[in-house]
Amino acid sequence: MSWTRRHLLDIQSLTAEEIVTVLDTARALKEVGRRAIKTFPALRGKTVVNLFVEPSTRTRTSFELAEQRLSADIVNFTAEASSLRKGETLKDTARNLEAMNVDFIVIRHSAAGAPHFLARVLQAHVINAGDGAHEHPTQALLDLFTIRERKGRIEGLNVTIIGDILYSRVARSDIWGLTKLGARVTLCGPSTLVPREFEQLGCRVTYDLKEAIRDADVINLLRIQHERQRRTMFPGVQEYIQFFGINPARMAWTKPDVLIMHPGPINRGVEIDSETADGERSVILEQVTNGMAVRMAVLFLVNGGRGPQEVIAA
Ligand code: CP
Repeated sequence: MSWTRRHLLDIQSLTAEEIVTVLDTARALKEVGRRAIKTFPALRGKTVVNLFVEPSTRTRTSFELAEQRLSADIVNFTAEASSLRKGETLKDTARNLEAMNVDFIVIRHSAAGAPHFLARVLQAHVINAGDGAHEHPTQALLDLFTIRERKGRIEGLNVTIIGDILYSRVARSDIWGLTKLGARVTLCGPSTLVPREFEQLGCRVTYDLKEAIRDADVINLLRIQHERQRRTMFPGVQEYIQFFGINPARMAWTKPDVLIMHPGPINRGVEIDSETADGERSVILEQVTNGMAVRMAVLFLVNGGRGPQEVIAA
C-alpha cells in the first residue's frame, strides 16, 4: 500500500502508485455498496465540514453521501449564510471551524491554492474539491476509475479532452493523472482556450476535431467556463458548435467503442448534443456514480486507512 498523506490537495504531486491505491480502494468500496449493509464505519466519531464557497451539485452531494457511508458526522457549510459575507477571512473561518474539533475540511473555492493554504495553517485533514482553474483531484480520480473499469486499463489508451482547457481544473487534474498512468492525451478546442504550452505537460495539441477524435479510446468533453474568462475567447457559441461540438455526425468519425465522458454540468447543444450525451457510448452518469466510491476511498485513506485489503477484509 502506498498512501501516507494527510491531505488530498492535487494530482500533480501524487505518484502513479498512490493513484492506483486510491482506484483499488475505491473498487473495494464500490463492492461494499452492493452488500446488504452498505456502510463502512471508518470515520465513526469524526466530523467533516463541507466548505463549498463555489456552487456544486455532483461533488458536494457525492462527498456528503460518501461521508454518510463512512459514518462521519457532517456539517454542510453554506458560504452565502456565513460570516465570510461579513468580511471574515478564509483562514479565520477555517480556524474557527477547527476550534470546534472538526477533523476534515472538504473545500471548494474560486482561488487556486486555497486548499494548500488551509493544509498549512490547520491540523485538520484537507481535501480539495476544486480550487479555481488549478485542480479538481477527485474528479480526475473518478474519471480514471471509470476509464479503468470500462476499458480494463489506462496505460496505452488515447484520451482526447475537448473544450476550455485553459480555465479547466478538471483538464489539469486529468492530464496529470492520465499521463502518470501511461495514457496518451490529446487536447483540442479553440486555440485561445488550448494554448500550445500544454504540450509541455506531455500532451498533443490539435485544433482539428477529426484528427483529435478518430483514434480516441475516450473523449472527455468540457464546458466553456464563462465564469472564469475575463474576455471573449472565441467568436461565439455557434462557431464553437460548428468546429468542436460533438453530435452523431461527428461520432461517425470515432472508434465504435469510444467512451464519451463529461464532468458536468453539461451545456446541452454546445459541447455535446443530447443524443450523444444520453447515447450508448456515454458514461457520464457512471462517472457520477463512481464519484461516491472514489470520495469514500480518499476520505478513508487520508484518515490513515490501510488500502483495499482493509476494506476487503472487513
Ligand atoms: N464535476 C463537478 O465538479 O460538478 P459540480 O460542479 O456539480 O460539483
